[in-house]
Amino acid sequence: MSRSSTVVAIDGPAGSGKSSVARAVARELGFRFLDTGAAYRAIAWLVLERGGSTDDEPTVIAALEGLDVDVTVDAAGQRVTIAGHDVTEPIRTERISAAVSGVARVQAVRAAVNERFRAIIRDAEPGIVAEGRDITTVVAPDADVRVLLTADEAVRIRRRFGDVGGDHQQVGARLTARDAADSTVSDFMTAADGVTVVDSTDLTFDETVEAIVRLVTEESHD
Ligand code: DC
Repeated sequence: MSRSSTVVAIDGPAGSGKSSVARAVARELGFRFLDTGAAYRAIAWLVLERGGSTDDEPTVIAALEGLDVDVTVDAAGQRVTIAGHDVTEPIRTERISAAVSGVARVQAVRAAVNERFRAIIRDAEPGIVAEGRDITTVVAPDADVRVLLTADEAVRIRRRFGDVGGDHQQVGARLTARDAADSTVSDFMTAADGVTVVDSTDLTFDETVEAIVRLVTEESHD
């Protein structure tokens, strides 16, 4: 594919910090930022808003009808709207986290959002950092830099607990359950060929960002 912009693809499990790391990488490089999970979350929000269940595939597919989900790609602050509602904040709740895997496993949803993601990535100047579960493998397998961001499960649980608080054991159980549900959809725990693993278990946030920025600058000097 010939393009002048730089595409950085980052995948990883829940609690790996990929959203905040990817956003910081984008900011540092002056790139756009795409959090693909936000689109799945927005669709889950719409299904629940209409009184449906995300475990019911026909209901999820019905929510795709005339789908109007917009994910802005400004590294300074991504906004997410669906069907005219700004859902930037509501999609971050535990209620949505618990329901979103049902949306992510519907292939018709994946096909629809992936098409949108590819168009966003294609048009992003001067570059974009896109993060999710299948960016390095399905959405942008030809990205200039592909990273699998991991961390030991105990560390991911501790970080998630630091973000959301509450009951430590419950936070851990939810994170493990979501990884198990999501891993039936895409294998985001194993690095595909050519994907660089960045293990942040023993890295600070800034060190993790720097490690990825370095991969991008090294790539652009090749
Ligand atoms: O990264 P996140 O927690 O915001 O993602 C929300 C859900 O969407 C997560 O349960 C997995 C799913 N997802 C996916 O299947 N593929 C992606 N590219 C991004 C997210």
